[in-house]
Amino acid sequence: MSLNIAILVSGRGSNLSAILDAVKAGRLDAKVQAIVSNKGGVPALDVARKFGLEAKVIPSVGLSRDDHEKLVCNFLKDFEIDYLVLAGYMRILSPYLLRKYQDERGFYRVVNIHPSLLPAFPGKDAYEEAFQYGVKLSGVTIHLVDEDVDHGPILAQESFPRLPGDTIEEFKGRGLAIEHVLYPQVLQQLVEQKKHQYASVRGKR
Ligand code: GRF
Repeated sequence: MSLNIAILVSGRGSNLSAILDAVKAGRLDAKVQAIVSNKGGVPALDVARKFGLEAKVIPSVGLSRDDHEKLVCNFLKDFEIDYLVLAGYMRILSPYLLRKYQDERGFYRVVNIHPSLLPAFPGKDAYEEAFQYGVKLSGVTIHLVDEDVDHGPILAQESFPRLPGDTIEEFKGRGLAIEHVLYPQVLQQLVEQKKHQYASVRGKR
């Protein structure tokens, strides 16, 4: 039983690449139903193509968040989706979209990866801010999304050190290498959870 996912991107697409690699290698039992970018011309679109997939570009520029998300939801409604996977999606999701992916316990079926040990350093420049702050230890967080920014139930965290003499690029590189391993692993845990839930529902019949 596979996990049906849609992946939302905005830019470079290195996490998209790591997820698609894991699917291809059989380390992640997921079906990528759709890839959506809110920006055209970004490297993530080439990443999708490299794996034989076409990302759907739904530009957000010039649109209000609600108007943009109506378009996104309208596109996604034709796919069966267990989880929305945010992979460098640089938009804050509105309650309108989140509520379409609410599960029976009230959680949203939306996963995000954030490059810090949340709740430290939320926001879009987490690597830079942690580095400038002078942390000795930073990390990566994967969490379910809720209505606050970079917030919600934490599924996994992994730390990494800042080493003496690190440049920001070395620091970021160490974090990104963790992102690329951890995200597919956590998604695979959601596959196992889906299988378990399916088995327990069948068991009750
Ligand atoms: C990653 O550092 C991710 O943690 C953050 O945005 C960055 C996206 O990078 N949310 P990429 O587009 O996956 O390469």
